[in-house]
Amino acid sequence: MEHITKYFKKAAADQLTDNFIHSIGSDWMLLTAGTEHKFNPMTASWGAMGVLWNKPVAICFIRPSRYTFELLEPHEIFTLTFFPEKYREVLKQCGAVSGRNHDKIQATGITPLLTHKNGIGYQQGRLCLECRKIYYDELNAQHFLLPDTDAKFYSDKIYHYLIIGEITDTYLPL
Ligand SMILES: Cc1cc2nc3c(=O)[nH]c(=O)nc-3n(C[C@H](O)[C@H](O)[C@H](O)COP(=O)(O)O)c2cc1C
Repeated sequence: MEHITKYFKKAAADQLTDNFIHSIGSDWMLLTAGTEHKFNPMTASWGAMGVLWNKPVAICFIRPSRYTFELLEPHEIFTLTFFPEKYREVLKQCGAVSGRNHDKIQATGITPLLTHKNGIGYQQGRLCLECRKIYYDELNAQHFLLPDTDAKFYSDKIYHYLIIGEITDTYLPL
């Protein structure tokens, strides 16, 4: 696998110009967990970017039933990749099938690249964030303050985990 620096340059997280409410919620992102020899991407459209403990952070919300969650658990690093609009179909595919029984890399044709801390980015991306897990928790239904959240999103009672990653590297195309 080629190194990401062949195609991308590092940037400072606090210099990014994305409106991340739009980029995450409408454009979607590809969350990739695992390492060079075993990794898997899944589409995510819930999340946030911000600051915690004086670090730039990305916050993701992942159901434990995802195969990606299984690969997130044992590894410190995960990545978030944002794509140009023409890759919408790739994101649809990665959000429709599971890596448990599909090779999403082969199916979509996207090209994985190795980040500095051995996370996986993609050559076709327009922005890649390498993140180190620094906090996680399971959403607690007792803390839902709106009456319909549980019924609307959790009829199966499988609650999202929130995973906070320190943004350790930010990559923009050369
Ligand atoms: C647009 C879109 C956004 C999604 N956002 C999330 C999300 O934020 N969190 C999550 O747990 N699943 C989300 N999903 C669902 C996963 O991408 C989907 O279940 C995927 O097949 C999981 O793949 P995996 O089993 O290979 O991990 C989203 C799906 C789509 C299509």
